[in-house]
Amino acid sequence: MPAITLTTLQSLKQKGEKITMLTCYDATFAHACNEAGVEVLLVGDSLGMVLQGHDSTLPVTTAEMAYHTACVKRGNTDALILADLPFMANATLEQTMTNSAMLMQAGAHMVKVEGALWLAESIRLLAERGVPVCAHMGLTPQAVNILGGYKVQGRNENQARQMRADAISLEQAGASMLLLECVPSELAAEISQAVKIPVIGIGAGSDTDGQVLVLHDMLGLSITGRVPKFVKNFMQGQDSIQSALKAYVNEVKGVTFPGIEHGFSA
Ligand code: KIV
Repeated sequence: MPAITLTTLQSLKQKGEKITMLTCYDATFAHACNEAGVEVLLVGDSLGMVLQGHDSTLPVTTAEMAYHTACVKRGNTDALILADLPFMANATLEQTMTNSAMLMQAGAHMVKVEGALWLAESIRLLAERGVPVCAHMGLTPQAVNILGGYKVQGRNENQARQMRADAISLEQAGASMLLLECVPSELAAEISQAVKIPVIGIGAGSDTDGQVLVLHDMLGLSITGRVPKFVKNFMQGQDSIQSALKAYVNEVKGVTFPGIEHGFSA
């Protein structure tokens, strides 16, 4: 059991203290993030892009996710480890159970699934079987081909109403956490207030219960040179990776990151 548990995250939300999350894919960075005080390590399927060099997250397999989850577990002592179910690993309820078991047995403490209301049944089944679930809503990169690109979601009133309703339904289904990616800041704030579970944002403004960034992005590393608006390079003004990680934790806790310029309007 890590020092940070679901109960810790719930009490941080209740106290109004921001939760810090970063993606992490290996033991050395898991250790460095622990030293900096990052509370949640997300073994994200973004590893398909930043480690493997693919142009989307779609090629990533559950076996690869389990491998990186096990690497992170070996370097981790304190943080809660959240691992992504990759593309189509939750296509059926049976696959969802089997693949979640693989990630939990590799060292995850919670799994993350991308989608909306259709996730409710699998979230309920997983929670009943002892697997905490984070539902990733808004821009869901595994659906990039349906969405027509990496675009802000929930900008019109119908979409916003649907996202608010889905968030509440997924909490009722048993989700332990929500992650909102590229959602207008005002909508993300409303959803964070409407549910009791912690809501983590990326490109969702400063009024969510916590923040996440892709590790390589916040260290100023990019293969393509395209940097999303919501990213801040925390290496600027720092002389080591360790101080950049610490600066991220301090800025999220101090609510100086994200700034208005990192968010989106409706
Ligand atoms: O895979 C990932 O890194 C993610 C973040 C973008 C939240 O899901």
